Amino acid sequence: MCGIVAYIGDREALPVLINGLKRLEYRGYDSAGVAILNKEVNIYKCKGKVSDLEQFMEGKDKTGKIGIGHTRWATHGEPNDVNAHPHQSYHGKFTIIHNGIIENYARLRTRLEERGVKFQSETDTEVLANLIEYIYEQGKTDAELAVRLALSKVIGAYGLVVLCADEPDKLIAARKGSPLVIGVGNEEYFLASDATPIVEYTKSVIYLNDGDVAIIRKEQLILKTSGQDMSVPKVTELTFDIGEIDKGGYEHFMLKEIFEQPRSIEDTFRGRVRPDDLELHLGGLYQVMPKLVEAKRIIIIGCGTSWHAGLVGEYLFEDLARTSVEVEYASEFRYRNPIINKDDIVIAISQSGETADTLAAIKLAKEQGALVLGICNVVGSSIPRETDAGVYTHAGPEIGVASTKAFTCQVTVLAMMAILVGKKKGLISEERFKNLIHEFTLVPGKIEKILTKADSIKKLAALYKDATNSLYLGRGYLFPVALEGALKLKEISYIHAEGYPAAEMKHGPIALIDDKMPVVVVATKDSSYEKIVSNIQEVKARNGIVIAVVTEGDTVISGMADHVIEIPDAENVYATLLSVVPLQLFSYYIAVMRGCNVDQPRNLAKSVTVE
Ligand code: M6R
Repeated sequence: MCGIVAYIGDREALPVLINGLKRLEYRGYDSAGVAILNKEVNIYKCKGKVSDLEQFMEGKDKTGKIGIGHTRWATHGEPNDVNAHPHQSYHGKFTIIHNGIIENYARLRTRLEERGVKFQSETDTEVLANLIEYIYEQGKTDAELAVRLALSKVIGAYGLVVLCADEPDKLIAARKGSPLVIGVGNEEYFLASDATPIVEYTKSVIYLNDGDVAIIRKEQLILKTSGQDMSVPKVTELTFDIGEIDKGGYEHFMLKEIFEQPRSIEDTFRGRVRPDDLELHLGGLYQVMPKLVEAKRIIIIGCGTSWHAGLVGEYLFEDLARTSVEVEYASEFRYRNPIINKDDIVIAISQSGETADTLAAIKLAKEQGALVLGICNVVGSSIPRETDAGVYTHAGPEIGVASTKAFTCQVTVLAMMAILVGKKKGLISEERFKNLIHEFTLVPGKIEKILTKADSIKKLAALYKDATNSLYLGRGYLFPVALEGALKLKEISYIHAEGYPAAEMKHGPIALIDDKMPVVVVATKDSSYEKIVSNIQEVKARNGIVIAVVTEGDTVISGMADHVIEIPDAENVYATLLSVVPLQLFSYYIAVMRGCNVDQPRNLAKSVTVE
């Protein structure tokens, strides 16, 4: 949540900040602001998007070669001009941008107010700015020490960058719980919440660790750990290009990302799945494979779409590897007292690698002695660094807030893992293995075929764009697809949508069905096909409108449903990868027709780094 960006070097800072904020807007878009140091610090900030900020700044002095910028997802205080970042301390010496939550901000604020400090905003960040300045003035110390001392009094999470008017040659950055990346240029540095604003300037980056404090001058970076020890920065090379974070001619990132799925799935299994080979190569799991094979139970944790992928994982592991699986919302798991046995393995799934609840759940599992594996998309993010081993998804940057290609790549990784474990357990014969691998390699082509139907799905969307409620049903592997389809629709179009296991419908939701209620049924030919046909009949008997995703050539459901979307036949194991695609397109087109901001749905942010 919240995007932060900063620059120090010989360029004009503003274009770097504005470009960066645009790239980070997916993390929050309630307000935006910049502070640029020239002779003095000029702060411009306002409610709304980065484009609103650009308008607001027209005709003002924006020159300067050191600057910080912020795009906000509101936590403390409503989205308005005053609560927008950057925040300045009461005497204007410190200007800061912050991502995270200062949990003890109320107590700190009261103490500062008792000492006469005046506040402008309702934010926790202003408390931090004032605390730094208070310590700086009282202790007659330097900016770095004031920042360190202030942070030692803070409970909560932060990724922050501080500009001190008295020490105008430097930026001070610190991280605990919220990500911060430093791009290393030639006598210049770029800072951001993630690497997307940096990649157009440099591919060399340093990911800060929790507790790190960086003192950055244009010609020098000093990195210190929380214990004040100097630390040698570990420079990593970014593996993606600028082209991957542009819309590439599509109207929205979400549409581009839906259409990228054949390639992103292929990228995820490239080098890992080789058609002529009787192996699956998951290098990140080599060391832990014996434990994974012996595991008595796997606990999968994640949030939102990643949790849905986890549910598919449950079916995959139980089906192919006969390992018992529990799938947990990370936010619930972390606050329970979960029972974790010695032979259990925890798998954390996350696109961003920064989801606060998932990170906290990982820490809890590790404290209880579990081996924790990660399935993550963002290289170098916190989750891969916190887990013992794992597999990257290689979906490429996912910018649209609604997750699409990340989901299918997560399922791809889970399928590879389950097949591999099943094979190592002797549960999958050579012939079945070869067949599964062959079928796997056909998935991208089959998705290409589904994507050619985008126009007909768009026409269908036009018929239901004004619906107020909808139900999504599926069984077995396709139940998580129903959940994911419903989530896509509600989060980007604001139409109420519920996903249910089809057989559960008669235990309650059936009461909702009338002749205005679209019921989307994922009903491809699998082991529960006959059962779902009966469920469709139950809906039709109540005059419900049925939109069914069916296997090509299906005549039974075509004869019953109001609309069908045909998809190619596939192994049960891969049906999720195909059947989710039309649902993504259906939601996308409905949201566009309703005039919704598809890439930045209201109230949401891509990466939920607060609990
Ligand atoms: O980055 P993560 O996968 O950990 O994010 C978890 C959820 O916030 C995320 O999947 C969210 O539900 C999707 N953006 C919804 O499309």
